[in-house]
Amino acid sequence: MSKLWGGRFAKKTDSLVHQFNASIGFDARLYDEDITGSIAWAQGLVGAGVLAEQEASAIAAGLEQVRAEFATGAFAFTPDDEDVHTAVERRMTEIVGPVGGKLHTGRSRNDQVATDFRLWVMRACDEMQVWLANLQQALIESAEANLNLPLPGYTHLQHAQPVTWGHWALSHFWPLTRDAKRFTQVWEQASVLPLGSAALAGTAFPVDREFLAWALGFTAVSPNSLDAVSDRDFAADFLYAAAMTGLHLSRLSEQLILYSSSEFGFVRLDDGYSTGSSLMPQKKNPDTLELTRGKSGRLIGNLMGLLSTLKGLPSTYDKDLQEDKEPIFDAFDTLGLALPVMAGLIRTLQLRPERMAAQLESSLLATDLADYLVKKGMPFRQAHGVVGRAVQLAEEKGVDLTAVSLPELQSISELFGEDVTAVFQITTALANRSVSGGTAPDALKSQLQQAKNVTAKPQR
Ligand code: ARG
Repeated sequence: MSKLWGGRFAKKTDSLVHQFNASIGFDARLYDEDITGSIAWAQGLVGAGVLAEQEASAIAAGLEQVRAEFATGAFAFTPDDEDVHTAVERRMTEIVGPVGGKLHTGRSRNDQVATDFRLWVMRACDEMQVWLANLQQALIESAEANLNLPLPGYTHLQHAQPVTWGHWALSHFWPLTRDAKRFTQVWEQASVLPLGSAALAGTAFPVDREFLAWALGFTAVSPNSLDAVSDRDFAADFLYAAAMTGLHLSRLSEQLILYSSSEFGFVRLDDGYSTGSSLMPQKKNPDTLELTRGKSGRLIGNLMGLLSTLKGLPSTYDKDLQEDKEPIFDAFDTLGLALPVMAGLIRTLQLRPERMAAQLESSLLATDLADYLVKKGMPFRQAHGVVGRAVQLAEEKGVDLTAVSLPELQSISELFGEDVTAVFQITTALANRSVSGGTAPDALKSQLQQAKNVTAKPQR
């Protein structure tokens, strides 16, 4: 057995070059798409009058046997199997005999690999929708279970204003809806049939490409064969969507790492989702979250790697394009673990309302105090300054803002009245933010409903 392209060569490929050139080590993952694509191509060749119906059936039966061998792990690779396309064709021809040699008529691995890869990415997008929807569901459950539980909200990691757990949990839900939308768009970008472009100029046999697109589930046919064999935009799009998803998971992780620390103590990770230290017996480490945060780096790296590979290329196929698959597989595998793991972590997360309450100090209500003065007619800029002085006074006296007496407040501004005590309530501060998208119970109720309505649905 020798190489499928060996005819014009007098010498064997150097063994290291063979190893360097081969992609079978990773592209065997495309076997299913490769076989599906080849069966459709055989049908296309029947339509073009190249293959007899019986010949196509024999080839298809052989390909199905190869598919079964791959699926059960029985497929026996040979040292000459360079990539999935040559391996599948080699084995199919062993099974069906010389007629197998007719399958590659009018086709090139250039349009073949682009077809296989697009089909694979489309399937990966569908899978991603399922994983995203599962995590979104977990966040909805967490939000709903403690919708109006108050905790401090932060900017610059400093106490800012009170918010609620429901609002916080849903703040990590919405980014995932944008991710889901991106993967829908990636699916659409990938859903263009390159098959029939052959090596670069288009096949010389009258194959019905509309039929091929329909048979393989593509929604469009590529309009230019030169572009079709070089276009990897869909792969870069996939990696961008994956990098963004990773970034969102990283943000959620980082926040939970802080919240689970002794200093915050707002949440406790379930034993099943944390790990211990080999040295310090007391430790319960958020490794799961740290890895999720860390893996966002490799997801960004995958995108950068592919963009760098694509940047230097002229149009049509160059072997550099073989480098397109591993970053995609890696991104898919990375999120295939990170998303379900995060969903489990959220579902088992214990909240510690008493620790949240302990941090709900009255400086979180300073804006509400300023708003109080605004409602009494003071311009906001001035009110901001007045409350600033009250905060300063409290700090000087070493007391809470609520402990500054009414006469003391009145010495700063006579607009302060008896009713000011009503401002110093977390529940009032929350209820005041009833604008849509705000943290008030009513607004949150409709936000939750909105979240339930849009939770990602698997593609087609
Ligand atoms: N293994 C190759 C790849 O992944 C298949 C296409 C090879 N085409 C070629 N003209 N050598 O890109």
